[in-house]
Amino acid sequence: MNGNGRSILALVCGLLVTVLVVLQQVDATSLTLGTRRQGDGLVCAGDVNIRGRPGQIVSTTKLCNVPRRNQTITQVRALDLGVRGRGGYASVVKGGLGRGNVTLYLWSQKSQPLNFTLQVYAWPYY
Ligand SMILES: *[C@@H]1O[C@H](CO)[C@@H](O)[C@H](O)[C@H]1NC(C)=O
Ligand SMILES: *[C@@H]1O[C@H](CO)[C@@H](O)[C@H](O)[C@H]1NC(C)=O
Ligand SMILES: *[C@@H]1O[C@H](CO)[C@@H](O)[C@H](O)[C@H]1NC(C)=O
Repeated sequence: MNGNGRSILALVCGLLVTVLVVLQQVDATSLTLGTRRQGDGLVCAGDVNIRGRPGQIVSTTKLCNVPRRNQTITQVRALDLGVRGRGGYASVVKGGLGRGNVTLYLWSQKSQPLNFTLQVYAWPYY
C-alpha cells in the first residue's frame, strides 16, 4: 500500500471511530437532570414496563407531585433498563427542577418495549 492508501485508510478508521462514538451517545437514552443535595429525598419512584408492539412506538406519561407544599424537585432520573441500542427516550414536558411537580413523557423505538425506572428527589425531605 502506498502512502496515500494508508492515509485514506487512517481517515476511514477515524471516521468509523467517530461514528461509533456518536452512536454510543445516542444509545445512552437515560435521563438525569439536576443534582442531589443534602437533605433531599426520594418522593416518587416507579417502573415503566410496556410490551413492544410490532411496527409501533409505545409511550406513556408519568406525573410526580411532591407530597409537601414547600418541597421542590432537585433531581429527576429516568433510567433506561432496555437492551442497549433499543432503549426508549425520556423527556420532561411540564414542571421539573425547582418546581413542585414534573411530567415525563417516555417513548420507545419502533417495535421495542419501554422499560424505565423513574426516580424524583425533592428538598427539603424529613
Ligand atoms: C420490559 O417490559 C416488558 C413488558 O412488561 C417485559 O416483558 C420485559 O421483560 C421488560 N424488559 C426489561 C429489560 O426489563
Ligand atoms: C417547609 O415546611 C416545614 C413545615 O411545614 C418547615 O418546618 C420548613 O422549615 C419549611 N422549609 C422551607 C425550606 O421552607
Ligand atoms: C404542577 O405545579 C404547578 C405550579 O406549581 C401547578 O399550577 C399545576 O397545577 C401542577 N400540576 C399538576 C398536574 O399537579
